[in-house]
Amino acid sequence: MPQHDGPAQSGQPADGAETSSLESDTRLVWNPFLAEYTGQAPARMRRLELTDDCPFCADLTTGCVPPESQAWIRPNDFPALQPPNGECYLLIYSADHDRTFADLTVPEVVRIIGLWQRIYAELSPRYPCVMTWETSGEVIGQTQRHPHGQTYAVAIMPEMLGRELAAVERAEAAGDPCPFCAEVRAESAGPRMVLEGAHWVGFIPAYARYPYQVRLTSRAHTSAITGIAEGEPMEELAAFLPRIIRAYNRAFQAPMPYMLALHQLADERFHLHVELLPVGRAPGKLKLAASCEMAWGFWMNDSFPEVKAAELRDYVRREEEERAVMEQLPTPAQRAVAAYREQFASLTESEPLTVAWAPGRVNLIGEHTDYNDGYVLPVAVDRMVSLAGQPHAGTTSRCYSVHHRQRHFFRSNRAALLAPDRRRRTPLWVRYVRGVLRELVASAATPQTPAFNAAIVGDVPVGGGMSSSAALDVAVATFAAALGGPRLSPLETALLCQRAEAASAGVHTGIMDQAIACLARADYALLLDCRSLSYEYIPVRLPGVVVAVFDTQVSRALASSGYNARRQQCETATALLGRLVRADDASREIRALRDVTTDDLARYGARLPDPLLRRARHVVTENARVLAAAEALRAGDADRLGAHLYASHASLRDDYEVSCLELDVVVEIAAAVPGVLGARMMGAGFGGSALILVHQDTFEGLRDALAATYPARTGKRGELHRCQVSGGPESRVVALDKR
Ligand code: GLA
Repeated sequence: MPQHDGPAQSGQPADGAETSSLESDTRLVWNPFLAEYTGQAPARMRRLELTDDCPFCADLTTGCVPPESQAWIRPNDFPALQPPNGECYLLIYSADHDRTFADLTVPEVVRIIGLWQRIYAELSPRYPCVMTWETSGEVIGQTQRHPHGQTYAVAIMPEMLGRELAAVERAEAAGDPCPFCAEVRAESAGPRMVLEGAHWVGFIPAYARYPYQVRLTSRAHTSAITGIAEGEPMEELAAFLPRIIRAYNRAFQAPMPYMLALHQLADERFHLHVELLPVGRAPGKLKLAASCEMAWGFWMNDSFPEVKAAELRDYVRREEEERAVMEQLPTPAQRAVAAYREQFASLTESEPLTVAWAPGRVNLIGEHTDYNDGYVLPVAVDRMVSLAGQPHAGTTSRCYSVHHRQRHFFRSNRAALLAPDRRRRTPLWVRYVRGVLRELVASAATPQTPAFNAAIVGDVPVGGGMSSSAALDVAVATFAAALGGPRLSPLETALLCQRAEAASAGVHTGIMDQAIACLARADYALLLDCRSLSYEYIPVRLPGVVVAVFDTQVSRALASSGYNARRQQCETATALLGRLVRADDASREIRALRDVTTDDLARYGARLPDPLLRRARHVVTENARVLAAAEALRAGDADRLGAHLYASHASLRDDYEVSCLELDVVVEIAAAVPGVLGARMMGAGFGGSALILVHQDTFEGLRDALAATYPARTGKRGELHRCQVSGGPESRVVALDKR
């Protein structure tokens, strides 16, 4: 078989020795009839397609790229070309597996264009053509769902690029201007224009092969992506690309499979353009080989470009209007809307959509004090759980959880909710949703919450000690209220959610998590007296201090974690101490460990069996620390606050025994980093997260220290989050265009 293993000139085969045909080899084979090359790479048959173990997510956990990477270049494990024929790389567009190019923000796409530039600069000196592209959609061969593109550097000039270059050469020989520049001028403001900016024009070429094919050409004459200047030209490109893809999605009422291809050459006569080739011709109808008469290379377009351009212009406009509405929503809420539309499109009976969300929390201090009638000092953070959906006239509610990738339904009329859930396999997240609805109907006879369909999206790490379950409970209650359910005060909602949590998960939590999820205010901590439920907002004014949370990735299941056992021990200690105290002073009442003083412990502690004295000592000293920490916060004294955090950790570790190796290791590593003000385990313990107060200048140093030591000492990777002190639950009704 004639083949080629070296760079070819002008589309002609060079003299090349026959290469071996081992499975792992790749080769370029010359087609003498069409005068073009075909690549062959049998090893690509072994690709793992659409696996759940995403190889690109693994880059972050296996140390291939730094764990905080947002977008990166990696080798292609199944290269279609190998030197000297070419090289293949993957460009990972986002660390987030569930994003798509279409929903990336302008800064995120700018970062991707940065990757396109880097890979072009790297490969173009060595190869005549650098093909950067993306295939999106399984029907046209996307094999990994994780958002990514690819770059193939090829040792030959692909046929289409060669022909485009020839057009440029012909124009030059005739003394005409660049034909791409001429095309931009001719199409501007014309009937085939889809969107036009100061730096880029997107139009359907007069000779388009695909109905919705858009060519995005830069107004400035530049031959490759590296010629695109930072700032406006790049930002406009970054805005236009996803806008066009979103318009496709709207046109097809579903994510539209497309190819995106950068046409660029290291020949300054050439003119950079991006081809966007969506392979649908109408909703549900593909335009692949079946309708393009491919066997002849003769393309049949089932449309007139002017008609499709007008359609796309309208979609671009409507999409942008909708985006403006969506941008008012926090990211998880936006994603909930998108997931709702994807999951329930066919069920949608009426617009508009109701969206609700509630935050996760970081407890500054006051651990295991809430169920002892003590004090806590939590803040809400910029992590939340959101529901988006619509009511309907039936009696069955349906929910889709993006995190669990599960869809469930349950009868949600009053009688059905009040009856016990007999389905043994109902997942926990559904029990939470149902549990809140149940408490709502149990607490108020009317009005009843209507049945609904909703999608649930959150970015509070599940099992990460930031109270994702309370965020879910409160988000459901807020959603139900927005649908016309009973309107409760924030504290009533918190108490209701606490009851729901106990009933659905069997964990008798205190009130802290639900209270902060309901009462939070941006930039304030909540000093809550868990006995009287009176509270005070204390401003978090600690300039230059970052509230960081390190997720140990030791998942903690509250019910099985000894939480209820600790609660039980506190009750026993209360009863014993109560008896001892009252024997000496009948006027005193010990209803909870809140009523015990350090003097009491000194006097009666020896009579408590181990571990009850230590449990009680933690609660008594922790209550005092909360009040002292609140004082430090009022005074804006971050050092003092930090010192209380360390003391709290020691007490939780030694007296309350709810820490674990991983949490202790985090606190130890953090404490050794200069600029860290304080650290402690947070929440119920037995895993989950640690809170670290750190100077912003040291944040990166802390990250490095954790990355250097935590995995080696624990065998786990862990994850550091930077948190903003944020507000409480909200809901909105958003009117979106019907697709
Ligand atoms: C969990 C519970 C809270 C509280 C903490 C420990 O988060 O839900 O009520 O008891 O543990 O402080």
